[in-house]
Amino acid sequence: MDPLLIDMVELFRSKHRGGLTLPRLADSLGISRSRFGRGIEELRQLGYVFREMPQGEITLVSSPDRMIDTEIWSGLKTKTFARHLHCYRRIGSTNARAQELAEAGAPEGTVVVAEEQTKGRGRLGRGWHSASGLGIWSSIILRPMLSLRQASGISLLAALAFAESVEHELGLVVGLKWPNDGLIGGMKVFGVLTEVSAEVDRVYYAVCGTGINVAHRRGDFPPSLRDTAGSLAMAKGGPVDRLAFYRTFLHRFETAYRGFRRNGIAPFMPGYRERSILLGREVVVKQGDRTINGIASEVDDSGALVVRVGRRRVTIHAGEATLRM
Ligand code: BTN
Repeated sequence: MDPLLIDMVELFRSKHRGGLTLPRLADSLGISRSRFGRGIEELRQLGYVFREMPQGEITLVSSPDRMIDTEIWSGLKTKTFARHLHCYRRIGSTNARAQELAEAGAPEGTVVVAEEQTKGRGRLGRGWHSASGLGIWSSIILRPMLSLRQASGISLLAALAFAESVEHELGLVVGLKWPNDGLIGGMKVFGVLTEVSAEVDRVYYAVCGTGINVAHRRGDFPPSLRDTAGSLAMAKGGPVDRLAFYRTFLHRFETAYRGFRRNGIAPFMPGYRERSILLGREVVVKQGDRTINGIASEVDDSGALVVRVGRRRVTIHAGEATLRM
């Protein structure tokens, strides 16, 4: 990708209200008019729409709703997240690709994002429905100095960053279902799968894959998901700017991750508990072949779920919880 195109999109975004003529646009980037004109053509090919006014001012009318680097980078406030970026139209799984890149030495913050996944991975060996253009299917490579147990905090941070982004951008309330599902109005909109390469004492790298359902309508989900899955657009009752949401999410996630590297997960737990939909309720927790029935009484400072079973308290570090109706 030509970095000039990113600068051009940023320029149009910052000035697009008034509009500038071609010579002034070219001058403000210090390039020739013909180079700027060619850039506009290249951006048109990518799906950007421009309007030329009678006085010669050019304005950006609309940007493509596509996971491409000009769109992700322009207006992105992160320092490291997504500064190395791999965008795909279609891929098996962004987590699988990010693992390959991590093995080959890709730096922390490298992101893989795809319009569509054909083998999207979910937690506990399940799949993840990743239809083309409807969601944000992305994975980030992290290289924290953590033990294997501490690494579970990464998924929790991603879920919190999702919740804050939704609350801030869309004004909707997000509930978190332990360990890290993001629900709006009881429907699952967000899932995270963090896969690590580690020794017990030390993580070599983690790939944190996040799936955010953005533009789906109910009929876009397969019938088996229609009663449990939702999207940001369904929750809002109208369209959601997928790229703007993704940039916000990346920025919030990076900010949280920096805090986590300095101070661990405990400072984030109050925010998590506030949004937890399980606390105080009757739950069934599945851990492999084991099933635990009880009252969810706490998510402790390490992120583990504490369930009261009669007079016993059982601490669960990993599993799948559902509310007992
Ligand atoms: C879950 O089961 O809740 C976790 C779903 C995680 C899905 C995301 S989509 C992007 C990334 N790539 C994958 O293959 N899975 C994760």
